[in-house]
Amino acid sequence: MHTNEPTSLFLRACRGLPTERTPIWLMRQAGRYMAEYRAIREKYAMLEVIRTPELAAEVTLQPIDRFGFDAAIIFADILPPLIGMGLKLDFIKGEGPSIENPITRAYDVDVLATPPATETMPGTLKAIELVTRELVPRNIPLIGFAGAPFTLASYAVEGGSTSNYAKIKAFMYSEPAAWKRLMVKLVTVQADYLAQQVKAGAAALQIFDSWAGLALGQQDYLRYVQPYNTMLFKTVAATGVPVINFSQGVNAYLLDAVACGGDVIGLDWRMPLDWSWRQIGYDRPVQGNLDPVALLAPWRELKARIDEVLEQAAGRPGHIFNLGHGILPPTPVENVQRLVEYVREQTGNKRDDQN
Ligand code: CP3
Repeated sequence: MHTNEPTSLFLRACRGLPTERTPIWLMRQAGRYMAEYRAIREKYAMLEVIRTPELAAEVTLQPIDRFGFDAAIIFADILPPLIGMGLKLDFIKGEGPSIENPITRAYDVDVLATPPATETMPGTLKAIELVTRELVPRNIPLIGFAGAPFTLASYAVEGGSTSNYAKIKAFMYSEPAAWKRLMVKLVTVQADYLAQQVKAGAAALQIFDSWAGLALGQQDYLRYVQPYNTMLFKTVAATGVPVINFSQGVNAYLLDAVACGGDVIGLDWRMPLDWSWRQIGYDRPVQGNLDPVALLAPWRELKARIDEVLEQAAGRPGHIFNLGHGILPPTPVENVQRLVEYVREQTGNKRDDQN
């Protein structure tokens, strides 16, 4: 049976269908580069914003109202689901995420809970309902998201951000059985959370595996990550919405990350888009991949970088314009505005020329 074809540019591109122009949204599009966001954060802590549906909804809509992106992404973070599992997470100003009781031994894995998202993440699920109500009449899809198990485990074991992933890799190598139990628990929790986000109204999902590719060589990836990501994508496919697989830093083993699943492949800024898409196959849509730092450059340089992404995508259906990682706090809003307008203009014209 065929479902009805979607009409929004973003959802059409997720299905590889032709669109009148290339859809655009940006990873971390709601955040500190926007004064409206900073004003909210002056009054409320990060976790308060995430847990209060009205605030999370407001912040989610800020970049939509200001720039007219073709998709919204729910304002949340990949880490709060860890709180429900028993990890004491906080976001510390100037430092980032911090976990007071990180996993250091196999026993710590066994005491982790796996409660349903309806119990642990009600604020985000409610926020999705509020945003959906606002965006459905405007035909703008809302993206839900979650972290992939390795990326979440890196915070759970390291206790915060890391540059060398020494603790998580040492744990993985020395406690392979506990590693497996940890990954299965994380998959269980994330799969349920993602399914509940769809139930609340999310029209697409993105799974962020931000760190596995940067931490691991191919053999470790195949052994310690791929089976669990595959499990997660397989389970989440049952929701029926398009799922974006953003696996940063996988470089030479891109296809091993692609094999895990996902309807759309998110490319990080290090990957040549044309080469990557050819490897993946043009029947699979791709998202990306402007270097976020290009938004800090003068217009002539920024424009050249945008042109390069568009040239590499070559006007094929199934390209979603995005950054190749999250937008940076010092990004001037004028550059974001200019980026959106330029991509619209360039990709709209190209299609007109073909008619
Ligand atoms: O894209 C969006 O607009 C939705 C919001 C979103 C946030 N985090 C908000 C946030 C999303 C999709 C994330 C995902 C996330 N969070 C990832 C995966 C994507 C990626 O960047 O690779 C990761 C690894 C995290 C973990 C995390 N959260 C870190 C390392 C930090 C601190 C670094 C930083 O940028 O400050 C956060 C905090 C965070 N998450 C902020 C925002 C807007 C900054 C909080 C603030 O306002 O101070």
